[in-house]
Amino acid sequence: MKVDGRHFRTIWVEPDGWSIGAIDQRRLPHEFVIARMTSCDEAADAISSMLVRGAPLIGATAAYGVALAMRSDASDAALARACDALSATRPTAINLKWACDEMRKALSTLPPSARAAAAYVRAREIAEEDIAINQGIGQHGVELIATIAARKKPGERVNVLTHCNAGWLATVDWGTATAPIYTAHDQGVGVHVWVDETRPRNQGASLTAWELAHHGVPHTVIPDNTGGHLMQHGMVDLVIVGTDRVTANGDVCNKIGTYLKALAARDNGVPFYVALPSPTIDFSVNDGLRQIPIEQRSPEEVATMTGRTADGRIETVRIVPEGSPVANYGFDVTPARLVSGLITERGVLQSDREALASAFPERAGD
Ligand code: MRU
Repeated sequence: MKVDGRHFRTIWVEPDGWSIGAIDQRRLPHEFVIARMTSCDEAADAISSMLVRGAPLIGATAAYGVALAMRSDASDAALARACDALSATRPTAINLKWACDEMRKALSTLPPSARAAAAYVRAREIAEEDIAINQGIGQHGVELIATIAARKKPGERVNVLTHCNAGWLATVDWGTATAPIYTAHDQGVGVHVWVDETRPRNQGASLTAWELAHHGVPHTVIPDNTGGHLMQHGMVDLVIVGTDRVTANGDVCNKIGTYLKALAARDNGVPFYVALPSPTIDFSVNDGLRQIPIEQRSPEEVATMTGRTADGRIETVRIVPEGSPVANYGFDVTPARLVSGLITERGVLQSDREALASAFPERAGD
């Protein structure tokens, strides 16, 4: 997608042919800074510090992290060490494990001397596949928006509510939840996005709003508690969110607060869709509520807020009394029964075992 007229992806191989460049998402929306990763440790740190974030992007970063590891030591032990370290950086998004497994599959049968080059090839493929998948999600998802647009009066826009950032910043390009939105906007379908701010890290307010603004998509940032009110007043036509893991039976794990939006959507008859790239399906898990590990992050993320002061300084301030205990659960699970459909690269599916297994039979056997 474009930043000030220049096309960017979120991650790339630098012109030196080996180091990895990425947009430092911790600095947005206030500063646009490019970071450079030169080792597997730096890639792992970029994922855990959320320099890069979003399920598909952390998968692609892990793949490049394995490639960086193979440059310095391509032994079996080093391959296992790199995959284990990268997979452990964040526990919830299955894309990390998926990408590491892909890298293992591509490299383990090769002699060590061939592994570094092959690792860059497979990592690049994973990044390219992500873009193609998201474009597919855009093509299928735009139908949902266009169908609603066709029922609107001239000049009325389709109001989509989204949570967190499942935009191009969360992927290599296009985004998952945003792909149908960008596609609709580019096709001239009037669309407006309600952007949940998404406390505690504010990925909606800081990242989704930033990228929608850069692409010229009309949007409004709302506090996390506002969606239900908007739905009660007919101001939301559909919800589209991303996901970090969808189980074999269609339960959806996504950023904390997603479940509450699904409940409000159900109560108000608003369709609730999940944009799902196939690497985010975990066919090994059947019960999202009990089997998906939920990341808990530092209490500091809740106890503080970071922003830019009027004179341009980036400052972090405390908003919780010293000593008050704080809990910071990163994700929640929306049961399959609350999901209207899964927008995948192979079409819009029912959120259930049969639909997922028949659309992705090659993954169902994993
Ligand atoms: O903690 P984050 O910012 O990595 O969480 C991101 C989300 O929850 C996204 O909705 C999800 O990863 C899907 S991204 C296409």
